[in-house]
Amino acid sequence: MNSIFKGKILSPISKSKIFFLNLGYLVISEKGKILEISKNNLRNKYKNFLFFDFFDKILCPGFIDIHNHLPQLPLIGISSSTLFTWLNRIVFPYEEKFGYKEFAQKYSGIFFHKLLKNGTTTTSTYVTIHKEATDIAFKSAKESGIRAFIGKVMMDREVPENMLENTQRSLQDSKELIEKWDGYDEGRLRYVLTPRFAVSCSFPMLKGIGELAKKYNVYIQSHLAESKSEIELIQKLYPEFENYTEIYYRAGILSEKTIMAHCIYLDKKEIKTLQNTGTKISHCPTANRFLSSGIMPYRKLEETGLTIGLGTDVAGGYSLSMFNEMKEAIETSKTINFMNPKEQYKPITVEEAFYLATLGGATALSIENETGSLEKGKSADFLVVDYQKLNDFKDNDILSEVKNILSKMIYCGDERIIEQVYVRGKRVV
Ligand code: GUN
Ligand code: FE
Repeated sequence: MNSIFKGKILSPISKSKIFFLNLGYLVISEKGKILEISKNNLRNKYKNFLFFDFFDKILCPGFIDIHNHLPQLPLIGISSSTLFTWLNRIVFPYEEKFGYKEFAQKYSGIFFHKLLKNGTTTTSTYVTIHKEATDIAFKSAKESGIRAFIGKVMMDREVPENMLENTQRSLQDSKELIEKWDGYDEGRLRYVLTPRFAVSCSFPMLKGIGELAKKYNVYIQSHLAESKSEIELIQKLYPEFENYTEIYYRAGILSEKTIMAHCIYLDKKEIKTLQNTGTKISHCPTANRFLSSGIMPYRKLEETGLTIGLGTDVAGGYSLSMFNEMKEAIETSKTINFMNPKEQYKPITVEEAFYLATLGGATALSIENETGSLEKGKSADFLVVDYQKLNDFKDNDILSEVKNILSKMIYCGDERIIEQVYVRGKRVV
C-alpha cells in the first residue's frame, strides 16, 4: 500500500551514530520500499497515499536475530549445566519429536509469530534433521510474512541413534529443500545449509556441504568454539587438524555467506582464517552465560574488522527478545572490562548494541542493501514502538534525548512496547 507514516524516526547509521527525527515522515511505496524520509510534511507531495499518524511513537527498523533454533522454543529457560549435558538430556530428545508432522506444525507457526511480536523481522533459524519439519517451517515463515533464512540441521555422527542421518541422504534432502525454497517470494525466504557443528558432522559431510553451497550459491550456518569441552572433543575427533576453524576451512565451508555462532575460544590464526574467508560471526551473549560456556571477547574480534551480528540462540538463550540480547551484549562487555583492567576494552554502548541488532545483523547476512535501517530504497521492515509505556513517571525531560530513549528501550523494553510490525511495508503484527 502507498502510505505515509508519521512519528519519531530512529535508525542506525554506524556503531556510534544514530539517525533521529523527533518528528518525521516515512513514505512507503506499493511494493513496500522506502521512497523518502523527511522532517518536512510530505503529504502534499504524495497526495493519494494513506496517512498514519503515530504521534510520538518511535518508528525504527525491525530487529535481526541471526541465530536461533526453532524446535527449542518450548525449552526456553530450562537450564542444565553445560552444553553437552543440555544437548543430550534436554535438546536431542525434544528435537526428535519433530519427526512427527503435527508436532512440527504446532511449533513452527507459533515460533515465527512470536519472533515478529518481539520485533524480529529477519531471522536465521535452525530446524531439526527432519526434511518435512523443515519444509513445514518454511511454509509457516511464508505465511507469517517474516524475512527468514532457514535450514535443516545436518548430523551424521556422535549423536543418539535416532538423530543420526545417512550422509548422502542428508545432502540430498538439503539439496531438494534448496531447490524448493531458496529465494522464495523475491528472496524473502532463503535456504541456509546447517551442519550442526563439526562434532556431529563427518568430514565428508562437511565437504559435501561446501560443494552444495558453491553450486547453489547458498548460505551456511554452524557453531564454532562455543565451549572448552567441545574443543577437547574436536581435538579427539579431528586430530589431524591444527585447530577447530581449520576443519571448516579445509572442508570449504567458510565464505562471506557463512555465519558461525559463538566463537568464544579462537586463537590468532583462527581469527585470521575467518577474516580471510569473510566469515561472519553471530554473538550470542545470553546463551554463552546460560550454558556456562564462557564470554566472547567481543571487542577483540570487532577490532580486527570481523562482521558481527547478534543471535538469541534460543533456547541456549532464554529469550526471543532482541531487547534482551542487546542488554546482555552490553552488560557482558562491561564484565570483560572489569576482569581485564589492563586491556582497556571499550564496552558496547547502547548505540552499538542497536546497530548490532539491526544494520550489523543485516551486514552479517549480506542483506544490508535491503534491510537493517530506514533509508531510501530499502525495504520497509520496521516497528512502531510505544516507548512511553516505559515512562512511568511521565517525566519527558529525561526522555527528551535520543540516547536516553534508546537506553530505556534496550534495558526496560520487551514485546509489550512493540505495537505494530511491518515487513516490506505489509503489517504482520
Ligand atoms: N552446539 C551444537 N548444537 C547446539 C545447539 O543446539 N545450541 C547451542 N547453543 N550450541 C550448540
Ligand atoms: Fe545455537
